[in-house]
Amino acid sequence: MEVVLRGVHKVYKTGPRPNKVLDGVDLVVPSGQFVAVTGPSGAGKSSLLYLLGCLDYPDFGEIHLGNRDVAKDGESLREKIRLRHIGFVFQDFRLIPALTVLENITLPMQLAGLSGAESRQRARELLRLIGMERERDQMSGVLSGGQKQKVAIARALANLPELLLADEPTGNLDTASTREILEVLQSINKSRTLTTIMVTHDPQAAQFAERTIELDRGRLREKGHESAR
Ligand SMILES: Nc1ncnc2c1ncn2[C@@H]1O[C@H](COP(=O)(O)OP(=O)(O)OP(=O)(O)O)[C@@H](O)[C@H]1O
Ligand SMILES: [Mg+2]
Repeated sequence: MEVVLRGVHKVYKTGPRPNKVLDGVDLVVPSGQFVAVTGPSGAGKSSLLYLLGCLDYPDFGEIHLGNRDVAKDGESLREKIRLRHIGFVFQDFRLIPALTVLENITLPMQLAGLSGAESRQRARELLRLIGMERERDQMSGVLSGGQKQKVAIARALANLPELLLADEPTGNLDTASTREILEVLQSINKSRTLTTIMVTHDPQAAQFAERTIELDRGRLREKGHESAR
């Protein structure tokens, strides 16, 4: 899915003074590209992902996901877009600990109306993709951090989205798990036409992307880097 931002502004007005986080952001991400977004803490990286993920509206500007400007869409349509076209991965995994690995992955499919048999079949394929077929029936609460994040990635892919948004996906992981998760993200990005936008503090993590952009003082700046791909 191609992602295009034009003149996106976001100001939070909850504090004593308005906090202008995005100040006319323009961006074109071609379909299937893997982009890293870096920038200092508080720069607005998560805010940018929330806007892309239809979790919040900009104050001004266009956010095109494929051929729709989702900034103009109503909440009920945006909810459908979130469920069917966008996958989210968070730093803190956000699995449901009392559900098994399989149940965590099939949940979004059931919300999208897939039958139990179809969901389980697709979940098994996703488990193969992340190399966790053996953990299928374990409670997700007992998994290691790296395993949890792999399950969270499989869950994010449950409804075969065209856009994957990851906010510090390796922020809670050790070096070995970080590498594993980045390799999983890289390989699913290569094997699908999945546009991937990953926020990270870690310059080495950013090397796994094809392109790095830095968010600073409300604007995006391209950062050239040697790709590790
Ligand atoms: N819902 C909100 N209401 C009010 N202010 C907010 C809200 N969300 C974020 N902010 C403010 O907007 C600014 C950017 O926050 P954001 O979380 O997007 O930064 P970030 O780049 O993701 O930072 P970090 O690297 O620490 O995660 C911060 O000053 C934050 O306090
Ligand atoms: Mg953040």
